[in-house]
Amino acid sequence: MSSFASSISKVFYGTFIHSVSIKEIEYVPNGLLFVDTHGRIAKIARNVPKDQFQGALDGVEEYKVVLLNDDQFVIPGFVDSHIHAPQFAYCGNGHDIPLLDWLDTLTFPHEAKFKDASYARRVYTKAVARSLRNGTTSACWFATIHLDATKELVKVIEEQGQRAYVGKVNMNQNSPDFLKETTQSSVADTRAFIEYVNAINDAQGFDTKPLVTPIITPRFAISCTSDLLTELGKLAVEFDIPVQSHLCENLKEIEFTKSLFPNSTDYTSVYADHGLLTHRSIMAHCVHMKDEELQLMKDRGAGVSHCASSNFNIKSGLANVRKMVDMDLKVGLGTDVAGGFSSSILDAFRMARTCSIARSPADSLLVPELFYLATVGGARVMELEDTIGNFVVGKEFDAILVNTAAKHSPLDVFEHDTICTKFEKYLFVGDDRNNEKVYVQGKEVRLPDV
Ligand code: GUN
Ligand code: FE
Repeated sequence: MSSFASSISKVFYGTFIHSVSIKEIEYVPNGLLFVDTHGRIAKIARNVPKDQFQGALDGVEEYKVVLLNDDQFVIPGFVDSHIHAPQFAYCGNGHDIPLLDWLDTLTFPHEAKFKDASYARRVYTKAVARSLRNGTTSACWFATIHLDATKELVKVIEEQGQRAYVGKVNMNQNSPDFLKETTQSSVADTRAFIEYVNAINDAQGFDTKPLVTPIITPRFAISCTSDLLTELGKLAVEFDIPVQSHLCENLKEIEFTKSLFPNSTDYTSVYADHGLLTHRSIMAHCVHMKDEELQLMKDRGAGVSHCASSNFNIKSGLANVRKMVDMDLKVGLGTDVAGGFSSSILDAFRMARTCSIARSPADSLLVPELFYLATVGGARVMELEDTIGNFVVGKEFDAILVNTAAKHSPLDVFEHDTICTKFEKYLFVGDDRNNEKVYVQGKEVRLPDV
């Protein structure tokens, strides 16, 4: 066996579809994609005729070869740049309540239950399984303030094999007594959580990027004092880790934030003033942003998680993603369960399109742009654009094997369909029943029942 063949763990032959730029989706029919034993894409060959691909396999054993049929194609795994794991417990409930009341009446009482780590494990097992089934190979998770429960989320993610950023949430003000930390305990538990994840990663001795990364997670400026935000900014620098939070989601939230931080120019500046707005920051929503705030995000290299489903659901508003994209801000899609009722990035894609059309039909986001946001855009927001997002030699293979003719498929295929129309049908009609296999870092993820 050649040394190339022995370094290969899997080869796919069939159609690959991915974004090569925000304007362009590339269709690769009759492609051969080789994945190496580290889970990286080792080689891609385009337009290899059906009667010739065997010859191109160069000694690779047969059991490593995945042959796709004409109803199947492989796309990059989806990136969910904003999602709350504990909120799966009440996903689908309470959508007629605006943000701040929704937090008080639904979210905070539910999240308080995560003091119990075994309850957390039950909810988190479902949450991660559902996310993976929906084809999310990378996710930015909010947990709760609870250290043990957040460790449980990391364990569940490690067991199920998703790539993830996981944040222990920080809350030390404007929160109910049953869901509030002191500044000291919030910082100490955050440090303990980061060290816990780092120790797991060190023990595994990765020769690729670790799959799970801790992320600094102040819930939003309202729930953190200036002291706490400052300490969290220092931890982000000390450990060189990303930051996630909520920003300019709802008008009442913005007014309240301004009253709490009168020394900052605006809401976005609150994070900037506390060392929390960097190229590693992911800000969810950004619905009501002034031009100066978008520019500040751009200047700092921070990314936006566009959560259209949530923004409709709890009536926050319509984010101007066209403007963000045109100024080359980093933008990804987020499901924001349970502000959003669906953990599927396909639904986020559809909602993002509806939002964009509702704002301005003439210059609404086009399908290639939205698919880019769901994959490469999310990777950019996570600062993982050199690692995932599309099929480029050297990147890691995170992917979905889609079967448009799967059992109980919600979409119908006919003789007139081409691979392009099948792909488009999947984007608009498909769901997890079409996600036949999901791969993270080259390994097939066992899709648990949910
Ligand atoms: N702002 C602060 N916390 C939350 C949350 O849990 N969900 C949403 N959508 N917005 C928030
Ligand atoms: Fe959120």
